[in-house]
Amino acid sequence: MVDLSKKPGHLRRAPENFLSEEQVKAVGAGRRDFLRKSFLAAGAAMAAPLVARADAAGDPDILNLPPWTTSLGLPVATNPYGQPSKYESQLLRRESPGLTRVGGASVSFCPLQGLFGIITPSGLHFERHHQGWHDVDPSKHRLMINGSDPAFLKQPKVYTMDQLMRLPPVSRIHFIECGANTGLEWGNVAVPTVQYTHGMLSCSEFTGVPLKTLLEDCGVDYKKARYVLAEGADGSSMTRTIPMEMVENGEVIVAYGMNGEMLRPENGYPLRLVVPGVQGVSWVKWLRRIEVGDMPYATKDEAVHYIDLMPDGMHRQYTSIQECKSVITSPSGGQQLLETGFYNVTGVAWSGRGKITRVDVSFDGGINWKTARLEGPIQNKALTRFNIDWVWDGKPAILQSRAIDETGYVQPSYGQLRAVRGTKSIYHNNAIQSWKVVESGEVSNVQVL
Ligand code: MTE
Repeated sequence: MVDLSKKPGHLRRAPENFLSEEQVKAVGAGRRDFLRKSFLAAGAAMAAPLVARADAAGDPDILNLPPWTTSLGLPVATNPYGQPSKYESQLLRRESPGLTRVGGASVSFCPLQGLFGIITPSGLHFERHHQGWHDVDPSKHRLMINGSDPAFLKQPKVYTMDQLMRLPPVSRIHFIECGANTGLEWGNVAVPTVQYTHGMLSCSEFTGVPLKTLLEDCGVDYKKARYVLAEGADGSSMTRTIPMEMVENGEVIVAYGMNGEMLRPENGYPLRLVVPGVQGVSWVKWLRRIEVGDMPYATKDEAVHYIDLMPDGMHRQYTSIQECKSVITSPSGGQQLLETGFYNVTGVAWSGRGKITRVDVSFDGGINWKTARLEGPIQNKALTRFNIDWVWDGKPAILQSRAIDETGYVQPSYGQLRAVRGTKSIYHNNAIQSWKVVESGEVSNVQVL
């Protein structure tokens, strides 16, 4: 094992991101460079020294010219479709060892601890399939729009992908979060890393045609048709009801693009529904049919799954908006602070009700709070990245973030959430996450009420 504590790095990444011994040797110089740059950028604000070293004069990695300076590089188009550096090969979406896979039905979590900014690289976008995924042939894919009653829609239509892609598109950045994200934490299971606590979350730029355009093309009668049923083409026959107000305001998109290219097969290629602010299950993938009707459909995916068992024994069936939430992604569970001193504490915040207006961070388990810096531009129903300076003195600490959205809603503590929702839920957990730092620098998941 390489002793990373001898390296002038500041943070050991989560275990699943450990590099091999060979990779650590090779990446050392790059990591130092990265840290130096970030320290310099943050320098002006800091009273404490940012980094306790001044040994560059004896550093072989600055004294000796590396092979990449003294040899010819690879030609263009060696990778016709670009891939991440081999030194980043451990940053992967992962299946939780604690969750079973039934056929293709499972979930792979996004490695939030290793990401910057707000856009999730398409290859790391989390996946949730109820019946596995397919690489659907776009020339055979169709979208049908019909009404449950002829009075709701004048002209039912079937669109090909070519026809859809000729219509005027929009491109918008939105988060998608599965309603089951952070589900295990209801039971205080304390999953070890942020990848598994919060990794059913991603944020991309989606491109497509507003569903409103298509419904109006088919002659919808908004007075009569107050709900939409979206259906997927996969074996799970995923079907979800969406209230018409969400469609009428133009926010719901029939999307074919993600981050500037076609959707990835795992994320619904060639067509998926984008329902900003609403839980992921309503973002129906491999979208093949939209029906308009006058009442919620209460389909199988709505009667049993994604519902909330309330303390009085009632089931809340149509919880759909993802409430305001945030999480510190670094430092986070499974990582290790390697020395005392300056750290940029960073994370993401989001709200299904609009824009994030403030994120507060506590270093003492919620006793004192400081306001974090938000990276702009702040977008509607998208992730917002926050950062805050912290000087770790080597003593135990509990790190928390608390987001506030433009409606004034404040992300609740576990105590506040359980007071309303009880303890029997699986879905829709937006409580404040706590990461405990101990003297050794190890960071772990704890629950603070
Ligand atoms: N659509 C279909 N057709 N089949 C599915 O299994 N899973 C849903 C939703 N849309 C699903 C689907 C669930 S539960 C979620 S959380 C999101 O897709 C996940 O989208 P992603 O895999 O692109 O992250």
